[in-house]
Amino acid sequence: LVMGVDSSTQSCKVVIVDADTGRVVREGRAPHPDGTSVDPESWWTALQAAIELAGGMADVAAWSIGGQQHGLVALDERGAVVRDALLWNDTRSAQAASDLVAEYGADRLAERTGLVPVASFTISKLRWLRDHEPENAARTAAVALPHDWLTWRLRGFGPVADRAAGAAALAELVTDRSDASGTGYWSAVTGEYDRELLVSALGHDAVVPRVLAADEWVKDRDGRRVAAGAGDNAASALGVGAGVGDVVVSIGTSGTVFAVSETPAVDATGTVAGFASADGHHLPLVCTLNAARVLDVVAALLGVDHDGLSRLALSAEPGAGGLTLVPYFEGERTPNLPDATASLTGLTLASTTRENLARGAVEGMLAGLGAGLDALRDQGVPLRRVLLVGGGARSAAVQQIAPAVFGLDVEVPAPGEYVALGAAEQARRVAAAGAR
Ligand code: XUL
Repeated sequence: LVMGVDSSTQSCKVVIVDADTGRVVREGRAPHPDGTSVDPESWWTALQAAIELAGGMADVAAWSIGGQQHGLVALDERGAVVRDALLWNDTRSAQAASDLVAEYGADRLAERTGLVPVASFTISKLRWLRDHEPENAARTAAVALPHDWLTWRLRGFGPVADRAAGAAALAELVTDRSDASGTGYWSAVTGEYDRELLVSALGHDAVVPRVLAADEWVKDRDGRRVAAGAGDNAASALGVGAGVGDVVVSIGTSGTVFAVSETPAVDATGTVAGFASADGHHLPLVCTLNAARVLDVVAALLGVDHDGLSRLALSAEPGAGGLTLVPYFEGERTPNLPDATASLTGLTLASTTRENLARGAVEGMLAGLGAGLDALRDQGVPLRRVLLVGGGARSAAVQQIAPAVFGLDVEVPAPGEYVALGAAEQARRVAAAGAR
C-alpha cells in the first residue's frame, strides 16, 4: 500500500492506495483553519488526524504529500516556525510584489524564474516580511512551503533544542520541481535556485529545501520511501492523468487553468505562471481567486442551494439578458487587481431576475477561467480538451455552460481526490523503482 496526501487550504485528505492496482482502499479527512494566515501546526495536527482516520500507516510502504502552493513557512535556526504561514490567498504582499517588479523588471523576472511576482508568490511574502516584520525576517533561517514542511515533519523532523542540531535538521528539507517553481526564486529552466533574488527579498541568505527530481526519494524514520510531493495543481494533473493537449480547469477555493507542456512558459505580462509539473515537464498555469465561492455567495444571496442555483441559471438565456457579474469578490490575481471589488452591470427592469443573476454568476466565473485558456493559447500551449475538476465542477450549470464559454470540449471526470491521488501516484512510482 502507498499513501497520498492533499493538504489544501481548508483540510487535509489522505488516501491509502493499493500500489498494484491504484485502487483506493482507505481514506481519511480532517479540517484545519482556512484563513489566509495560518499556524502550520494546525496542518500537522490535521495530517495526523487524517492518517489516523485512514487507518494509520503501519502497512504503508511509501508516501507523498501534495499541498497548497506558495505559502511561506519561515523557520528559525532551531527549526521552529517563526510566525503564522502567509498563504497563496493572502494579498497583503501586493505592494511588495510591485516593488520587486519595479526593481528588477517584469521581463527579467519572467526570464529568470518563469514568474512575474504577484501577492501570492513566496518571494513577495519574503519581501513583505523584510519590510513589515524585520525581526521575524532576521530570525528566518530556512524557508519552506506547506508541502515541504509537512513532508519534513512526517519524516520525523521538527524543532530541536540547539543551533547545531537545527542546522542538521534544516538540511533535511526537500521539495519538488512543481512547488519550487511557485516560489519566484527558482528556475524551471535551469533547475537552480536564484540566490540573488532570495537574498534581495528576505534581506539575507536562508536554507531552502533540496529540490528532488520526479523519480527521486528520501526516507522517513521508519525506512519508508518518501516521494518528492508536489504543489496541489501539479499533483492533480498527475492524479487526473492529464497528458499533452489536455488542459485542466479546477474550480475550487482558487480557480486554476493549467496544462502539461513540454516547453516552459515565459510570460512577461505575468498572466501565465511558468510552473513546472510534478513529472519533469512544465505546467503553465493561470490562477484566479474568484472561483467556487462566487457560486457560494450568489446561491446564498438568492437563498438557494447549489442545485437551485444551477436550475435558475439554466432557465435563463445565454448572456443573462445583458446582466454581467464581474466576480472580483476577493480582489483578483489574474488580472492582477488585488484591491478590485465585484460589480454587477447591465441591470434593467427586464434583466433583473433571479434567473439572470444566477446565470451571470456562472458566466462571470467561467469567463475569468476562459480568459486563462486564451492566455495559454497565446503562449502556444496546445489545447485539445478541458478536464473540469474541483467542487465547482459538480454544478450542472457550470458543466453545461462551460463548453460555450471555453470554446473547447469539456469532460468532467468522476469526482475524486485528484491531488491526493496524484501524490499517491508519486508514491507508487518510487515504491516500484529499483533499490538505490
Ligand atoms: C496556484 C495557487 C492555488 C493554490 C491553491 O498558483 O496559488 O491554486 O495552489 O491551493
